[in-house]
Amino acid sequence: MHTGGAAIARGGAPSLPPPRETTMTTPASGAASAREMSGAAVLVVGATGRTGRLIVGRLRERHVSVRALVRDGAKGEEVLPSEVQRFVADVRRVETLMAPMAGVGTVVIATSGSAERHNDAETVDYHGTRNLIEQAAAADVEFVVFISTIYASRPEHYQDVEPTSLGWKARAEEVIRRSGIPYCIVRSGWLTDGAGGEPLSVSQGDTAEGRISRADLADVCTRVLLVPDARGKTFEVVAAAAGQASSLASALAALTPDSTRQRTRARRGRSRGRQAQRSSRHA
Ligand SMILES: NC(=O)c1ccc[n+]([C@@H]2O[C@H](COP(=O)([O-])OP(=O)(O)OC[C@H]3O[C@@H](n4cnc5c(N)ncnc54)[C@H](OP(=O)(O)O)[C@@H]3O)[C@@H](O)[C@H]2O)c1
Repeated sequence: MHTGGAAIARGGAPSLPPPRETTMTTPASGAASAREMSGAAVLVVGATGRTGRLIVGRLRERHVSVRALVRDGAKGEEVLPSEVQRFVADVRRVETLMAPMAGVGTVVIATSGSAERHNDAETVDYHGTRNLIEQAAAADVEFVVFISTIYASRPEHYQDVEPTSLGWKARAEEVIRRSGIPYCIVRSGWLTDGAGGEPLSVSQGDTAEGRISRADLADVCTRVLLVPDARGKTFEVVAAAAGQASSLASALAALTPDSTRQRTRARRGRSRGRQAQRSSRHA
């Protein structure tokens, strides 16, 4: 994925609420106690992925009951701890998703389309997520965490970054928002395999640029389960240069829920439309 943020012009971006940004640090993993996370199992989709397996690890450190949805049983055996309950399934095949979802409280979606034939971004990131959300709704899942990406809502720049995948993430985000299931959408910066533990910057408005390690992303995706203020929110997260650190909980509390943001966007869109009509009448 192209990461040349500086080369990407931002002119013509849609009018969005002003970005809000908070820098925070990630505490050592495992710091939360078993008391903090309990209850129904968490299903990690894409659990054999590079971020997915770290999420599984973080949840286990916190003594959470974890299920892993894997599409390749052998890979699941190789990269996941043997105690983790694994379900072989494929997000493209809705009939495989019922069993892993039954009785689950939370679903964390860490899947990604690829260059593989019939498994591209549209198929996995959009249709696959739609299948998951349909089944999550049917199974009365209480919370969904979806890993999206920075640039998801910057269609004018998709071509500068990667030809197709970002738009499918944006469409999947909409499916989740409309589902009625409580959710948190984490728009990750460009991923690295760094060790993690860096200060992170959390913001809204999809203006963030930068990278984040899979380790830190896994930590954020795990910790949003603990923070009621994460619900109904979409935010970007990237590694921060430095700055005033705050906790993830307070950073999330300061964010605006999506419904408010969407109303603001719709209002601005209507007002732009009225302005355009007026200008065309006067032209
Ligand atoms: N790469 C970036 O810079 C970047 C930037 C922003 C956001 N993200 C997002 O961050 C998340 C983690 O990325 P990553 O690079 O760590 O992921 P990854 O290593 O590419 O793992 C993707 C996972 O999705 C699984 N998967 C693919 N097709 C599937 C299907 N049809 N059914 C079920 N599972 C399927 C893969 O299974 P196998 O293990 O069997 O292959 C794998 O476990 C993804 O959502 C990605 O889109 C990435």
